[in-house]
Amino acid sequence: MASIGVLFVCLGNICRSPAAEAIFAELITRRGLDARVHADSCATASFHAGKAPDPRAVAAAGRLGYRIAPRLARQITDADFRHFRYLVAMDRNNLHTLQGWAPPDFTGEIELLTRYCADAAGQDVADPFYGSAEAFDDTLALIERGVGALLEQLCRRHRL
Ligand code: 4NP
Repeated sequence: MASIGVLFVCLGNICRSPAAEAIFAELITRRGLDARVHADSCATASFHAGKAPDPRAVAAAGRLGYRIAPRLARQITDADFRHFRYLVAMDRNNLHTLQGWAPPDFTGEIELLTRYCADAAGQDVADPFYGSAEAFDDTLALIERGVGALLEQLCRRHRL
């Protein structure tokens, strides 16, 4: 059975989406679903491409018990719309960028992360870049809730 691809997308791919990818990947592993689901993350913008995850995001993830592995930021490409079934945007700007970028034959789902989360539905995962350490903690907590809810939905939809 083909593995289900989930791509987390934010503006720079150095704060929110690498954190979402790392937390989601950890939840996948804990559930024994590594062969069924895979995840990656990317940016809509190119200006941080090639950069490592923001240390403040790494630290905030660490405080929740997750590890953002060393990786380099990258911008989304056309191929991502073929390789990933679920494109998960951190905020409305990213969502609109993805919707505009998607080729007409894209058959996957482009959605805001919090849409999967009944008690946070429709909220943006706000950009923490100019915020404090507390802002990063709030951001990571919302991401953790969102990716957990996303995984629950995937398990139901795909009978994982
Ligand atoms: P991200 O955070 O989209 O969560 O990776 C940001 C990183 C950089 C900037 C904005 C958001 N920036 O304006 O440089």
